[in-house]
Amino acid sequence: MEKMFTYEDYQSTAEWLLSHTKHRPQVAVICGSGLGGLADKVTQAQAFEYSEIPNFPQSTVPGHAGRLVFGFLNGRACVVMQGRFHFYEGYPLWKVTFPVRVFRLMGVDTLVVTNAAGGLNPKFEVGDIMLIHDHINMLGFSGQNPLRGPNDERFGPRFPAVSDAYDCNLRQKAHCAWKQMGEQRELQEGTYVMVGGPNFETVAECRLLLNLGADAVGMSTVPEVIVARHCGLRVFGFSLITNKVIMSYETIEKANHEEVLESGRKAAQKLEQFVSILMANIPPSDNAI
Ligand code: HPA
Repeated sequence: MEKMFTYEDYQSTAEWLLSHTKHRPQVAVICGSGLGGLADKVTQAQAFEYSEIPNFPQSTVPGHAGRLVFGFLNGRACVVMQGRFHFYEGYPLWKVTFPVRVFRLMGVDTLVVTNAAGGLNPKFEVGDIMLIHDHINMLGFSGQNPLRGPNDERFGPRFPAVSDAYDCNLRQKAHCAWKQMGEQRELQEGTYVMVGGPNFETVAECRLLLNLGADAVGMSTVPEVIVARHCGLRVFGFSLITNKVIMSYETIEKANHEEVLESGRKAAQKLEQFVSILMANIPPSDNAI
């Protein structure tokens, strides 16, 4: 088995970044499939290719660039991941979540996660945005957890609580920001379930996931959120509903990655505006290091 990262590995990457940029981000943003356009909105931007950052994994998925962009989003000091790492690419979860601990060591106090997801809730329409209220860690049920293995107390406790993973205060702010936008569709809120992928779900799996209490399904986000909460970051995030999952054997359409990316492109402006308003509304965190 590949050797897991040590505390010193996270530290040396954080120190490398801190010595190569003058930026000191408060908020880290992870861009989901097709949502990387957000990084283009960063002002005073300084970008690093993942390939030039020590220890950083590489992103291999179309629709995911591999760049870390430092700068400001609507005045807020940010670091934006344009492209994330997925379990289905073959990475172990401790590699998928590597950047989160690096951000923490750099002084980030808040993580914003975004993703493309399939809509399970029949009320959802393509193009809707769902604020993530809670998640279901399907991989966790089978023993795949980014915190599996020796625990380093310098990051957090052996048995962290995740019952309040998605910050209540920030979710309220998100609803206020949405109202300011005057969108016709309401901001959805619900539970995100992570599956391993890379295949889209069968009809039986979609029915099962809906019955389990999930509103949207995707192949990311949950590992990063677990690691972020473990090391004391404040978290919130949202899913862009890029497709409605197939719930019936009579349906001829099939889920496909092009549809996911196309929906991302169409909703990009709305999302960028939303994130931008939110950035101005994030209060200081009481857990800054
Ligand atoms: N299933 C899983 N992941 C996804 C989907 C989906 O339907 N759409 C976008 N990401």
